[in-house]
Amino acid sequence: MNELDLKPIQKTIEELAPQGRTALLPLLHETQDYFGYIPEDTAEEISKALNIPLADVFGVIEFYSLFTEHPVNETVVHVCNDPACAMAGSESVLNLLSQKEKLKFEGEIKPKITIEVSPCLGLCDHAPAILVDDEPVTARDLHNWEEIFDTERKFPQTLVGGEVHRLTKNCGKGKRTILEEYIENGGYIGLKKALSLDPKSTIQWVKDSGLVGRGGAAFPTGLKWEGAANAEDKTKYIICNGDEAEPGTFKDRVLMEDDPHSIIEGMLIAAYAIGSTKGFFYIRGEYLTSYKNVIQALIEARNAGYLGEKILGTDFSFDIEVRRGAGAYVCGEETALFESIEGKRGFPRVKPPFPTTHGLFGKPTVINNVETLANIPIIFSLGIEEYRSLGTEKSPGSKLFCLSGDIKKPGLYEVPFGISLRHLVENLAGGMRSNHKLKAILIGGAAGALANASQLDVKLSFEDLRNKGLPLGSGVVTVLDETRDLKDLLLRLANFFAEESCGKCYPCQLGTQRQYEILKRISSGRIKNSDSKDLQDIIITMTDSSLCGLGQTAGSAISSAIKQWPELFTPGSASKPVFDHGGQDDR
Ligand SMILES: Cc1cc2nc3c(=O)[nH]c(=O)nc-3n(C[C@H](O)[C@H](O)[C@H](O)COP(=O)(O)O)c2cc1C
Ligand code: SF4
Ligand code: FES
Repeated sequence: MNELDLKPIQKTIEELAPQGRTALLPLLHETQDYFGYIPEDTAEEISKALNIPLADVFGVIEFYSLFTEHPVNETVVHVCNDPACAMAGSESVLNLLSQKEKLKFEGEIKPKITIEVSPCLGLCDHAPAILVDDEPVTARDLHNWEEIFDTERKFPQTLVGGEVHRLTKNCGKGKRTILEEYIENGGYIGLKKALSLDPKSTIQWVKDSGLVGRGGAAFPTGLKWEGAANAEDKTKYIICNGDEAEPGTFKDRVLMEDDPHSIIEGMLIAAYAIGSTKGFFYIRGEYLTSYKNVIQALIEARNAGYLGEKILGTDFSFDIEVRRGAGAYVCGEETALFESIEGKRGFPRVKPPFPTTHGLFGKPTVINNVETLANIPIIFSLGIEEYRSLGTEKSPGSKLFCLSGDIKKPGLYEVPFGISLRHLVENLAGGMRSNHKLKAILIGGAAGALANASQLDVKLSFEDLRNKGLPLGSGVVTVLDETRDLKDLLLRLANFFAEESCGKCYPCQLGTQRQYEILKRISSGRIKNSDSKDLQDIIITMTDSSLCGLGQTAGSAISSAIKQWPELFTPGSASKPVFDHGGQDDR
């Protein structure tokens, strides 16, 4: 590396150094974007500038899968190998890409490509999905190498369907909704309404709306805001959680790409309500278009006086900084996300204390999911009664569902809470592909549970699903037909959790690994009588004693399968070839 090469990065290091450790991930991203990897001498520069021990800097690099200390080839391809993509043939895509050493392209030999097997890329509606140098590409019907560079293959627009279009009214048009269009469609009216109320009344509106969080934990949003508003410390933060990495989920990506102003408006109202002047928008590292579109929308909002000092002529000031994740599912967990913004490895914190009093930088913090925040302007522009006119008493409003797998029309669907799963799958999403029969539906994502065909009439509301033991999670509905191998699905989920466990607590660190080992053996046909019981013991231990939601839910889909298809876990059950991404086999 010569001095000239380092110059642009050195300038950025100098610029961000005064921020201290919180600048670590942004600087690592800059370095990686520039060199394609993080050279040791640049890591040293960063370590000195931010006053962080070099070993600590390397600890952070190693924690996040998108960072690498080793040079990569000119083209990096991430191949998703999670359920929806696996069902659509991601193994064949991997084989096709791995067979070639060099790429012949328009008559010249291009350098080798680096292939990374990746967890769900949030592109499940066009499975099998790959990223080619961060650009989403669908690998459907891929015949040869060159085709991955074919612009026609660039990721097609996500189908946005459903029965109502409150959250999605500006989505599905194949482009970002710019400020002028957003305002024409009623944008920023909610903010004006909120600013005409006092902050306490603003929180009361959110409480009265009955809004609960859409990030998975279903916590009442107004109550969360009230907790942070009442905290004594005057420095408070608003965070938008756009880390979306739950396998099968892509709803937040569509909102961030197509309608970022709705989320920004939600953050503004939250900030006004709790008395915050600074917000962070944390976006999954793989979501480059979301990142770019949010940044553009922030610039527009700032220029138009919706962000910055004395917003719309009031005494309220607020601005938002964007942060990129770097490939760690656990960083979607709220306290791990704080650690990540603070420039550390994403290890979840022990709770209590809770974020509303001790969040980012130890200050009172409200962290909300993208979809939760996108609901806020709707509540204020429609009014509470109108908002609650959709949905059920306990689950008011509408909900986004991400449909993928063996259905005719995969895509994003907005529906009122309370419609049946059958209506969503059979009527709205067109039913099963190729006239196959339904075998199972994974609801809620990897951390969710499996439903069978007899459960199709369950109503999609928090309360109805909970009664049936089916978590709503982040709104994932992955459909499997009768030809699918449930063991393969479970093995992939187990592999996902074993890979993504941060290792901070033993029940999850060991449990996810052991669960994967047993499922790997079961999938290869070598089933022991004790397997079903052993799996259930592991899952109960993980659920009861893991530190964060990752370990607490890592066995829930497997547990639901054991209850409904016990024959899969008993000796003699048929098996298919097992996918293998390393790890120990349990003999
Ligand atoms: C392993 C793990 C990953 C998570 N990932 C996300 C995520 O990507 N997006 C999100 O909004 N919430 C995620 N959550 C939930 C957050 O911890 C938190 O509950 C949520 O951001 C709060 O927002 P809400 O109240 O609006 O739902 C995750 C939780 C766990 C345990
Ligand atoms: S439950 Fe898993 S992911 Fe969560 S802190 Fe423990 S080891 Fe880390
Ligand atoms: S993008 Fe492959 S499963 Fe989601």
